[in-house]
Amino acid sequence: MVLRALRPGGLWGLPGAARRWLERSGVERAGRRAAAQPSDVRHRGRRVPPGPVHVAPDRPGVRFEYAPDESYQDVGGGQVLHSAPGFPGFPARLALELFERARVLAGTGRVGLWDPMCGAGGIVATLALLRRDALTRVLASDVSDRALELAVKNLRLTTPEGLAQRRGQLRAQSAVTGRLESVDRLLEKVRRGPPVPADLARADATDPADVARLDLAGIGVVIADLPYGTQADWSSEAPTPAARTLRTLAGALGAGAVIVLSTVNREDLRGCPPALRSFKHGRRHLRMYRVEEPTAR
Ligand SMILES: C[S@@+](CC[C@H](N)C(=O)[O-])C[C@H]1O[C@@H](n2cnc3c(N)ncnc32)[C@H](O)[C@@H]1O
Repeated sequence: MVLRALRPGGLWGLPGAARRWLERSGVERAGRRAAAQPSDVRHRGRRVPPGPVHVAPDRPGVRFEYAPDESYQDVGGGQVLHSAPGFPGFPARLALELFERARVLAGTGRVGLWDPMCGAGGIVATLALLRRDALTRVLASDVSDRALELAVKNLRLTTPEGLAQRRGQLRAQSAVTGRLESVDRLLEKVRRGPPVPADLARADATDPADVARLDLAGIGVVIADLPYGTQADWSSEAPTPAARTLRTLAGALGAGAVIVLSTVNREDLRGCPPALRSFKHGRRHLRMYRVEEPTAR
């Protein structure tokens, strides 16, 4: 079921109660919880946890070929995008590298991107901010309504109106100057052209019937950050949910589409076929698959 569509100049808005709840519990509670966590990002003197996309130091593994060695702080956790406890982040530079590698494998120029386990929507929001020129659309889906509420807020930040509103919010909170400067740099980026059309939907990525209801037109790259138990759990009856997800996504996408799976639990990849590309980055195991034409019998 499509919950909400964000189009240039289009719909925006969560029910007031949900929005107030998110503002109270998401951002503020994140700050409090974070006191116990190591982080360099501070909000009103308190540490803010990483996420929805966090800026992690390079770890052995991926050699970055496409994502330049520069600051990703503007899209980092606790800076501009919204985060909340229970929504693990994804390193921004790694997201960019995976997206670009997937585009190369898919052999496409501009492409539609889908995150079928979007959580807070960090991956799609970050790429819509950093690579708007390479995207025709983004689609974010998840089984969790709470995740989708947060993802709506983050996708809203890929539009000039959303960022301007966020700026006002941060100012009212007397946020540190660095955060306002990040908003201004992002605003400058998004004002350069029309926002990337974004859609959100609730869907179980392991359920072919659910996935069949999604509008996947133009989707050529999928990046799925699989649940890893400590913060986000699988919501599926499937005995090997990652393998089931892969089969479900491949069955729904057109030939040539590239699916990237990321997990910190290698065991979760049980039952998945060998990947076209496979590598490790820090704790993450990454697998890239390309959907092939069905073979004639
Ligand atoms: C590791 S988190 C993704 C975090 C995300 N990359 C971000 O930046 O916020 C995994 C997500 O998978 C979702 N999930 C769990 N089971 C699912 C399923 N069967 N179908 C779709 N999403 C699912 C959870 O609700 C959670 O939001």
